[in-house]
Amino acid sequence: MKDLSPAPSDLDPIEIASVDEIRVLQLTRLKWALGHAYANVPMYKQRFDEAGVHPDDLKSLDDLARFPFTNKSDLRDNYPFGLFAVPRERIVRVHASSGTTGKPTVVGYTKKDIETWAEVVARSLRASGLRAGDVIHNAYGYGLFTGGLGAHYGIERLGGMAVPMSGGQTEKQVVLITDFEPKGILVTPSYMLNILEAFRSAGLDPRESSLEVGIFGAEPWTNAMRAEIEDAFDMHAVDIYGLSEVIGPGVANECVETKDGLHIWEDHFYPEIINPETGEVLPEGEEGELVFTTLTKEGMPMIRYRTRDLTRLLPGTARTMRRMTKITGRSDDMIILRGVNVFPTQIEEQVLATPGLAPYFQIELFTSGHMDAMRVLTEANPQADSSDAGQRLATQIKSIIGVSCEVVVGAPGSVARSQGKAVRVLDARNKG
Ligand code: DLL
Repeated sequence: MKDLSPAPSDLDPIEIASVDEIRVLQLTRLKWALGHAYANVPMYKQRFDEAGVHPDDLKSLDDLARFPFTNKSDLRDNYPFGLFAVPRERIVRVHASSGTTGKPTVVGYTKKDIETWAEVVARSLRASGLRAGDVIHNAYGYGLFTGGLGAHYGIERLGGMAVPMSGGQTEKQVVLITDFEPKGILVTPSYMLNILEAFRSAGLDPRESSLEVGIFGAEPWTNAMRAEIEDAFDMHAVDIYGLSEVIGPGVANECVETKDGLHIWEDHFYPEIINPETGEVLPEGEEGELVFTTLTKEGMPMIRYRTRDLTRLLPGTARTMRRMTKITGRSDDMIILRGVNVFPTQIEEQVLATPGLAPYFQIELFTSGHMDAMRVLTEANPQADSSDAGQRLATQIKSIIGVSCEVVVGAPGSVARSQGKAVRVLDARNKG
């Protein structure tokens, strides 16, 4: 793998500012953000009034803990445009995510928000080792999903050459990567495995491709998956995080020179970690639910938005801004099986550590008697001996995660392939 470390001159001054400078900037911006939300969004005014707090009560960053949380359901209740803080005419773009049930949630951006977003994505791409002039293949889906257009504007802001491939058409992805020779690729890690397979089916060696770095996000993935992809393509794999409600991709990104967690671009997004049961703010280093307040967003400010994502905050390393560790999972995706909490990322680690298995899997939940049960659908790696792989995986899951499960080792190609965000859990349990 090539060394993609940045030179100091590659960084924005704010990326190497002192922690104190960042805190001062955050306090100024946070005061503005609370005032802006209170003055222009009826929901925030009502919530703050009910909680007996006013934006002027914020004297220090810690005072934020006195303000109420915002939830996904607040976006649904104010569908489609009720949380906009500027006149509708000043919103130049919307995106939407389809929840599992009911109406999608809508987010809106002013022209300045779109510029901020391009800026934080460009910063993320630089942290990943990309520079102006680089060819960058973008396989995040274009459309209502924030991945495609969010990455696209960041590539252009960086001065890269965007290849707006979007998701799908996997054979064509391979043709364009081979012919255009991109240095970087942006795609979900699960879809990257699909592209990997297409390289091999086309008789091409992925390690010979031009790719030097992949920027993977939009779904949880593990360090085991990083090792798998880095080895398969002989390239760096870094993590990019974001969510539509906060802006889209580019809220946090790993630095290619350290790969030790994702630096949060704290000059725009203020993070807190809370105990998801009590709402209490947890100290640095403890795992809990990630909460964000936008510091500069005009169109749709978010105050203490509960992401449902579970992680920890750590001090900065390659950059001054704080890091979050790789997301363990969403609290919504946690499987509770006979009292044991199981995240799909834990299963991913075990599948990837089992010789004889390919890196594809899905988890099926079903009812057995009166009990919930779990089946892990995997497939044999055609290049290896998979004779006792199923048994080995079941034993590992039992001893490391603490649950018994069935493992099915299907033929190569039997597990459904991801086209974007992977569907990890199939729930076939009897309801009611
Ligand atoms: O997935 C934005 C995005 C696009 C991020 C492309 C990175 C790359 P949503 O569709 O609103 O936005 O989904 C946001 O996806 O709350 C997490 O649960 C999950 N997620 C996003 N990035 C990561 C990541 C985009 N790097 C939700 N690791 C978030 C783990 C992630 N989970």
